[in-house]
Amino acid sequence: MGVVMVVMVVVVAAAEPISWTGNTKRGLSFQSENLPTDDSYASLYLTSNMTSTADLSMCVWVKVLHFKESSSYLLSYATSDLNNNEMNLAIKPSQLMIAIGGTYLHQKKTPLTYLPDVWYHICFVTSQQDSRGTFYLNGKKSTSFKLPKRDILLNGSLTLGQEADKVNGGYQAQQSFSGIITGFNMYSRQLRGEEVEALAGCEVEEVEGDLVGWRTAVWSVNGDVTQVDLSVEEYCTPERGFTKYYISFDGNHTWSLINMWSSEAVATYFTYESDLPLGRRDWRTTADFQLCDKPAGEKHLLSLSACYDHEYTCDEGTCINLTQRCDLRVDCPDNTDETGCDKLSRPPEYLHSLPPPGVELGPLSLNTSVTLKGFSQVDIRDMKLTVDFSIIITWFDLRLRYKNLKDLSDLNFIQPSLVWTPSLELVNADFPNTYKTAAVLTVVRQSPPEEDDPRLPAHDELYEGSKNPLRLNQKFNAPFSCTMDLRNFPFDNQHCSLLLRLTSARSDFLRWHKMTVDYPGEVLLTEYEVGKFSIDRQTIDEYSVARVKINFSRRYGYYLLSAYLPTVMLMIISYASLYCKRESRDLRVMMALTTLLVLYALYQQTL
Ligand SMILES: *[C@@H]1O[C@H](CO)[C@@H](O)[C@H](O)[C@H]1NC(C)=O
Ligand SMILES: *[C@@H]1O[C@H](CO)[C@@H](O)[C@H](O)[C@H]1NC(C)=O
Ligand SMILES: *[C@@H]1O[C@H](CO)[C@@H](O)[C@H](O)[C@H]1NC(C)=O
Ligand SMILES: *[C@@H]1O[C@H](CO)[C@@H](O)[C@H](O)[C@H]1NC(C)=O
Ligand SMILES: *[C@@H]1O[C@H](CO)[C@@H](O)[C@H](O)[C@H]1NC(C)=O
Repeated sequence: MGVVMVVMVVVVAAAEPISWTGNTKRGLSFQSENLPTDDSYASLYLTSNMTSTADLSMCVWVKVLHFKESSSYLLSYATSDLNNNEMNLAIKPSQLMIAIGGTYLHQKKTPLTYLPDVWYHICFVTSQQDSRGTFYLNGKKSTSFKLPKRDILLNGSLTLGQEADKVNGGYQAQQSFSGIITGFNMYSRQLRGEEVEALAGCEVEEVEGDLVGWRTAVWSVNGDVTQVDLSVEEYCTPERGFTKYYISFDGNHTWSLINMWSSEAVATYFTYESDLPLGRRDWRTTADFQLCDKPAGEKHLLSLSACYDHEYTCDEGTCINLTQRCDLRVDCPDNTDETGCDKLSRPPEYLHSLPPPGVELGPLSLNTSVTLKGFSQVDIRDMKLTVDFSIIITWFDLRLRYKNLKDLSDLNFIQPSLVWTPSLELVNADFPNTYKTAAVLTVVRQSPPEEDDPRLPAHDELYEGSKNPLRLNQKFNAPFSCTMDLRNFPFDNQHCSLLLRLTSARSDFLRWHKMTVDYPGEVLLTEYEVGKFSIDRQTIDEYSVARVKINFSRRYGYYLLSAYLPTVMLMIISYASLYCKRESRDLRVMMALTTLLVLYALYQQTL
């Protein structure tokens, strides 16, 4: 009921005057009709027993009614005609700006813009100790800047709603502010992050500023400025949703969405049931270009939600935990939490034949981890080593964004044909006998979600491609040629390499970065012992190549037992026949011949 209830409260509040008690507060409304002028302002001179301060904090609730073409100045502070930018705060759709001690700082809000008719809680905190200024938006730390060291004099004039070019004057209509300001407090100390968060969440009674306190300060008001009564619910609601409309039922079958200011119905929803039109439903616009720039008579999908920010609104209005969205299990009564679960959000100009640019300047870095599963054949005669292995390659594609990623990356499956994937060549493998499985592409969630666009009817969690890597997993079985040196047989050690070349682009576009190799299997094979293995990076013919080196040492005990020992024993036996009596010639010939035959058989077997 979030949106609906808030709207109702506002209507009641506007209908009858409410005294300055309880949860009501005053606000100053500037240029509510959007008539830009240079004489709408509220101003005062600071009265402090200190002459200057090094630490300064400032917090304000603000709602813009109409944006100007240039920046709208919420406030400005001048200590002399020369030093007229000691503190300024300005807003435009793409950014907030603050001047402090004459230095301008910008705080961009990406990817969203600041919206009209939405309340923002803005705090700016300077700390001279570490020369930094910090922006807080809605209680969350958003940007921090380096600042030159400078004390701010405390004898200047402060103006709300205009930008002063001299003390208490020099205002310009195109820099003026149209909107509502409340809760403006200035402190001669550094507010802590928890204090700002508590203020923005309206969890605590607002601490009055010692330099300017909103409850006590006496403003001299001039021009198109009116005092308005606000309820805490109005500005302390979450950002999502509009607070400009309310809905009403005609007792028949029709719900209407009504603009509170003009009392005009902008859309209607027809229903045979008598329940609330919560959830995502098609409304029909009834006024031209009032709702999302659509002409009257068009269908428009609207979401009326009673859910918290950490919940997902099903199409029929039920709230479920956001973690249950797209988790391959139906949780909404109408099954709509598993619809629209495409993980990939690809810009229309995406070219999947081009490798993405590097996250930092320079070539794109690919990390790889090779897992050797086993050696199915060590073929000495053909000098081939047949290896079972799997390769995992990870990289960032900063052109992409992903939706509703899960912790378990197997659930974040992406169709490999839709995005760029690196192609890999096994340089020294025997091609006709190479087998590989289909590549499996997933996204690994590594960053918290970004804010999505609150104007969209469905609540999705968005993840940046520059922070959440793509991960390609593929299994191979291939014979690799390996030059084996058999001169020291059976005391030989063999060194084999697997060469993995990135063939999608040259090494100035793509290169291997972090590489690991791992062999969890049995170290002792029948004839060999798997020794050290390592992986390193090379550039061959301008392409980046990863070389996996594997060492084998022969288990000579096997050969000693199966060839050398029998041979020596046969030799001893044949030699022993020489000690037989000379008369038993048959026996001596028999023994010699038998030894020869057995030796021959042994030789054949060893081969
Ligand atoms: C200014 O006044 C406040 C109380 O009003 C006091 O606590 C503070 O010490 C004073 N500061 C100076 C520099 O006099
Ligand atoms: C504030 O004090 C400074 C230095 O004492 C002075 O130059 C300036 O004119 C004063 N400003 C105002 C508005 O009185
Ligand atoms: C209800 O709708 C019917 C048909 O559209 C109309 O005739 C009737 O006047 C409506 N009643 C009310 C109370 O609006
Ligand atoms: C949502 O689900 C997550 C994970 O299951 C859990 O940690 C969190 O407490 C849940 N939130 C609510 C409000 O139930
Ligand atoms: C690659 O490894 C480096 C170093 O561990 C790490 O900083 C980077 O984020 C990794 N890149 C990807 C795409 O996982």
